[in-house]
Amino acid sequence: MHIKKFKNFFLLDENLNNSYVSGNKFRKLQGILRSAGTIEGILSFGSPYSSHLLACAYYGKILELPVTGIIISEREIKTIRFPYLNMTKKFGTKLIFTDMVNAFSIIEKYKKQLPQYLWIPGGGHTLEAAKEYELFFDELFKKENIWSHINKIILPFGTGTTAYGIWMSVRKQENPIEVIGVSVSRNKDKCIYAVKEMEGLDKFPGLTIIDQFSGRYGQRDNESEKNRWRFFKETKVLPDPIYNARAVQYFYEQNYTNALIVNTGGMLNNLL
Ligand SMILES: Cc1ncc(COP(=O)(O)O)c(C=O)c1O
Repeated sequence: MHIKKFKNFFLLDENLNNSYVSGNKFRKLQGILRSAGTIEGILSFGSPYSSHLLACAYYGKILELPVTGIIISEREIKTIRFPYLNMTKKFGTKLIFTDMVNAFSIIEKYKKQLPQYLWIPGGGHTLEAAKEYELFFDELFKKENIWSHINKIILPFGTGTTAYGIWMSVRKQENPIEVIGVSVSRNKDKCIYAVKEMEGLDKFPGLTIIDQFSGRYGQRDNESEKNRWRFFKETKVLPDPIYNARAVQYFYEQNYTNALIVNTGGMLNNLL
């Protein structure tokens, strides 16, 4: 049973999809690597909070492949202060640091230097990753018998791959449920652009994007902290402060009932 019922909502906790290195990035990478064929290494990028780079590092270790991760940040980064980054380094990933202005040229430089590596866009934003979520939800729709009680699926929206994959599965169902992606950084136009990139679709009926938190990536305030701990008391699951805190805050603000909340992972960021 993947989905748990609470008083007036349901929870799918993707922190539990693998031991320790888990979450949506882990599931997404699984899809990417399955369709990648033979590779000699992994090259990707992310923020200092990136659970995607840790997923790359984890698979690099298992598959005995070298991994290079480019960290984009405007601040000087002390790796030890960022749990995901710290762990990524421990798994043996080579970390390269850059600011936003130089990010593009650094990425291009490493792509040229390491042509035999699999290049993975930041956050694992690929169609294969989205399809992994589509497949997972196809299974959940078959196996779980809760769907008649659910009228919304709520999750954080970063690159939008996870929300898109879930929406792809939902739209095939007889009574499609609304999918609500709560953006943690981008405004609505940029979010739409990101899901359009997937397969070139123009319209996304039933996919709602909330951008009330746009431009506030990584910022923490009293309201979101309060809601994280309220959620913890109700579920015994503490949402991470960067991604899932936003979705949970939005959920409580709306007083929704009959929602499925997808906790997308990111638990190590609770150590921040
Ligand atoms: C824990 C966590 N949740 C959600 C997201 C967003 O997922 P997506 O990029 O698929 O929208 C990310 C990364 O961006 C993440 O690390």
